Amino acid sequence: VAFVKTLLLESFDVISEINPTGGFLNIRVKKTEICANILKEAVNKLGDFGNNDFGLDKNVVIDYSSPNIAKSFSIGHLRSTMIGNSLKLIYRKCGYNVFGINYLGDWGTQFGKMIIAYKKWGNLAEIKADPINKLTELYVRFHDEAKEDPSLEDEAREAFRKLETGDQEYYELWQWIREESLKESQQIYDLLHVSFDSYNGEAYYNDKMDPVVDELMEKGLLIDDQGAKIVRIGDDVPPALIKRRDGGSLYITRDLSAIFDRKNTYNFDKILYVVGNEQKLHFEQLRRVITAMGYDYSDSINHINFGLVLQNGRKMSTRGGGVVKLYDVLDNAMKLAYKQITEKNPNIENPEEIARKVGCGAVVFNDLKNHRTLDYDFDMEKMLKFEGQTGPYL
Ligand code: ARG
Repeated sequence: VAFVKTLLLESFDVISEINPTGGFLNIRVKKTEICANILKEAVNKLGDFGNNDFGLDKNVVIDYSSPNIAKSFSIGHLRSTMIGNSLKLIYRKCGYNVFGINYLGDWGTQFGKMIIAYKKWGNLAEIKADPINKLTELYVRFHDEAKEDPSLEDEAREAFRKLETGDQEYYELWQWIREESLKESQQIYDLLHVSFDSYNGEAYYNDKMDPVVDELMEKGLLIDDQGAKIVRIGDDVPPALIKRRDGGSLYITRDLSAIFDRKNTYNFDKILYVVGNEQKLHFEQLRRVITAMGYDYSDSINHINFGLVLQNGRKMSTRGGGVVKLYDVLDNAMKLAYKQITEKNPNIENPEEIARKVGCGAVVFNDLKNHRTLDYDFDMEKMLKFEGQTGPYL
């Protein structure tokens, strides 16, 4: 012990003290010196600080944010957006080639619902004047009316089936709804300084799933289950449903098609899916189907799971029970920050810009400081405080 102690003390300037206790060596370091060194290096290297090259020549695909765009961008997608963006920055710093993909939820029966709602109650001029809110209203109205009249659900399914099989009118409607919804997402990404290399979402894979289904068939993996097509992947996990009885594709069918496309395009060494805890089973199934197909890269597939954003222990919702829009949350944070900043410092220059940085920064910092896989409670006042572990304090 005495020998190790001397060796360590001689080798590392920053160690001030070593005390053996029990089976452990307690090592004390010179905090001030370490901090000073780090800061000096950071100031010298600026943007290059922390760079390293252990990811050189390696490719990483990160699938993050990926909102479902028939509805408003809700607080529920904040975590994927910010955790994914952080991972992207960290991997870049480590020398990896990083490809950020926003796998938009731009396909599925929800678009059938939007189309039916638009055809029944939509007013083009009104929507054009205020697209995001009017489209959201239509979506909410669909759900309210469908509670009274369940046949609407059938109409929506039928509308989506028509869309899937290439109906021109519906396709154009879909395209327009998609574009308008994307504008809302873009506002949010601009505020948060988040960007992507690709926006190929679920719709992009609509006409690219047949080869996957064929391959599953050829490999003898596709089993008929009362008209639906499934793949069995072990006794401890439910089978993966690949095709519905009506021939419609599913979430996992599109994800299979997407992962093969990404492997081809980016030749990834790692692929990260930044998606909530509730999709654990989905990614386990994805991994197992790929292994069953004879591919050896299932270990490079990582589900970066995370917990929910709660309010008073429950999933966040508005007073009326609707989803909380992320844009409103950020807007609120900026307003609160503005108030605090201008009260503390009435002569401050550029208060709007600073309020954006402090307000959005508070929400982001709070999101990232919480343990990734646990749920956390959303408390706007607390995260905007200028003391404690908060963005504004930092
Ligand atoms: N749009 C999905 C959702 O909000 C997330 C998509 C995650 N990515 C994926 N490749 N499945 O639930």
